Amino acid sequence: MNIDLIKKDILNITQQTIAVDIVLQQICDYLKSAVSYYDWVGFYFTNGDKKELILKQFAGKPTEHTVIPFGKGICGQVALSNQNFVVQDVTEQDNYISCGFDVKSEIVVPIFKDGKNIGQIDIDSHLTAPFGKQDEELLEFVCEQVATLNL
Ligand code: SME
Repeated sequence: MNIDLIKKDILNITQQTIAVDIVLQQICDYLKSAVSYYDWVGFYFTNGDKKELILKQFAGKPTEHTVIPFGKGICGQVALSNQNFVVQDVTEQDNYISCGFDVKSEIVVPIFKDGKNIGQIDIDSHLTAPFGKQDEELLEFVCEQVATLNL
């Protein structure tokens, strides 16, 4: 991937003076088309004081997992660990919520605003072990930019 170009495009998207929901949707659509092995891209956000994540914008197949309790699945674990979670092969994870037989791997990166974990970006891939350090770098950058929005 051309990470510098993708970062530049992300900046162009996030710096628009349009509604946050539209910006987040554009990021999902853009990342899904810009990176060949990103087959599903979505944002989950913490639901107030409730210990659960709510799916907001996404690109890819609709999922029934629109509410995920903290601790459940890869997403729920990241809500508690505050760490990136790279799963190169989902069959090796016990605490995993399947979003379809075609998903082989997943990466989840938390979004911090004012030092607080407020949500995450979640990417599913139909390839096994596609993710490298550049994906983490890119998605951390995306999350930093998202944190600057009026969420
Ligand atoms: N696989 C995730 C659930 C969300 S879907 O990937 C859209 C998980 O284990 O948390």
